[in-house]
Amino acid sequence: MACFFRRSIAAQLSRICGAQEDVFVPLLSAIPASKKQVIPGLRLTVNSLVKNGTLSPDPDLQTQTERLAKQVKEDGVVEEVVAGRGVINFRINSLLLAEKLLEQLHAEPQSFGVKSEILQNLQKGRTLVEYSSPNIAKKFHAGHLRSTIIGNFIANLKEALGNDVIRVNYLGDWGMQFGLLGAGFLRLGSQEKLRENALQHLFEVYVQVNREAQHDDSVRLAAAEFFRQLEQHDEQALSLWKQFREITVEEYQKIYERLGVSFDHYSGESFHQRQSLEVLKDLRSQGLLKTTEKGTGVIDLSTEGDLSSYATVVRSDGTSLYITRDVAAALDRKERFSFDEMIYVTDKSQSVHFQQLFQILRVMGHHWAEKCVHVPFGLVVGMSSRLGEVVLLEDVLNEARYRMLQNMQEAKTSKELSDPEVVAEQIGVSALIIQDFKGPLISDYKFDWQKVLQAQGDTGVFLQYTHARLCSLLRMQGSGSRAHFNPAHLQDNRSISILQHLLRYDEVLLQSALELQPRHLVNFLTTLSHLASSAHRELQVKGSSAEVAQARLRLFSCTCSVLANGMKILGITPVEKM
Ligand code: ARG
Repeated sequence: MACFFRRSIAAQLSRICGAQEDVFVPLLSAIPASKKQVIPGLRLTVNSLVKNGTLSPDPDLQTQTERLAKQVKEDGVVEEVVAGRGVINFRINSLLLAEKLLEQLHAEPQSFGVKSEILQNLQKGRTLVEYSSPNIAKKFHAGHLRSTIIGNFIANLKEALGNDVIRVNYLGDWGMQFGLLGAGFLRLGSQEKLRENALQHLFEVYVQVNREAQHDDSVRLAAAEFFRQLEQHDEQALSLWKQFREITVEEYQKIYERLGVSFDHYSGESFHQRQSLEVLKDLRSQGLLKTTEKGTGVIDLSTEGDLSSYATVVRSDGTSLYITRDVAAALDRKERFSFDEMIYVTDKSQSVHFQQLFQILRVMGHHWAEKCVHVPFGLVVGMSSRLGEVVLLEDVLNEARYRMLQNMQEAKTSKELSDPEVVAEQIGVSALIIQDFKGPLISDYKFDWQKVLQAQGDTGVFLQYTHARLCSLLRMQGSGSRAHFNPAHLQDNRSISILQHLLRYDEVLLQSALELQPRHLVNFLTTLSHLASSAHRELQVKGSSAEVAQARLRLFSCTCSVLANGMKILGITPVEKM
């Protein structure tokens, strides 16, 4: 209910400064809590009013700040106005804070934060998010795992903020590697193994044939021949390729489900083989395609027209490249889905590729290239399992589940669970996600199972533990769902800290959406969990008077909803028991 308070203060500021109320609303943010004290209220940076032209610049900012602060009246909402260094703190009535916030949160837990006024200026409409995008028969490496969970987070966030989201998985399902795989499978493959463990088997065949091809010309020739057949749509070759693709998608779907991830479309490079030839034709007729001495086709992307920066889009033998297929795919998606924005999630080594892709779209005259975004992320090193290096997504999930189950058995918390394996997996996955989302996405990090699965500290296990404990309290003591509660019982420091923190939720969502970075939400939720677990320790429910218990239960149930909502946006399934 930050909006009620923002509006009320904005109305005063509007009266004083003459500008519209709307000008002030997005500039008011929750006063950050410090270790020493928490002040319930909102803060305004006076410079932000100078920057947007509401106030004229004053060489003496401090005097200007104090002058403005003096003109604000203390009313039923604002109880104290304090001018700091270039900022004004509006302390709000804490009874009103508890009442308004918990009333709204209780009435509409799902829309809390996400429907805030300050989010109104974000891009609305249809958002296409492309993520995961592994390559058939190749390793599903840590980069693909990162793309999967980051893309899922972005899609969830956009959806929560009211966008119409289309989730696309763009498989690496075409190219010379299928020549190798196809030729290799004809000699080394087994339909039986394919049925038993498709991903593993395809990967093994691919690794072996690749090894042989290094020193055996006949293997290379057979691979080239198989790929030629594929490109010419030879029926037998194509049906084998189709089988690989279908089985792979089926297997992936099962594993994605364990991760809590899904897609609306499984597209892939193969879909855009033909279209990329059309693209080349268009480029040629627009005069954008130049042939180099080596016979390759390039597009000039420099502003000077001197080929100082160019992208190669055709090989000398006339075949298309990765980027050519991406141009075709982008055009096709625009036409089929008419998205308002498109977001690609891959590791940072592909940043140049996407900048070139967007630039090609621009020179082709597609203004919507401005609405295409690449979200790059850094490398993870050292992700391994008991069996050694991780090659398949399934290996990571199995390892997380196995280790978490062991921890739970040691802590003897899993006794009463009917499905400890499922719960262990959900917690293990949340641990992976939090570890990955803690820092700026662009940073590299070293993977460490011990650290990932710690129960204390800012981990996914801790978030789940806090959530489960709140659920158990609400199960045992009743969920505080009676309509009335008395905010006078929530005036202690612990309660006010939580309320003041909840006031920030919409700002955190805004920042996450503007930067497409999960760490703001992760920080918010870990702080919320720390605050909730202290409050849970100190604010007794059992043994308190009915009225006090009722107010505290209301606080805990609202905290629990925000925690769960935030976790779900991150892609985590909150567990109710552990
Ligand atoms: N399959 C690619 C890889 O594993 C990632 C695809 C990224 N998306 C794209 N539109 N190029 O590296």
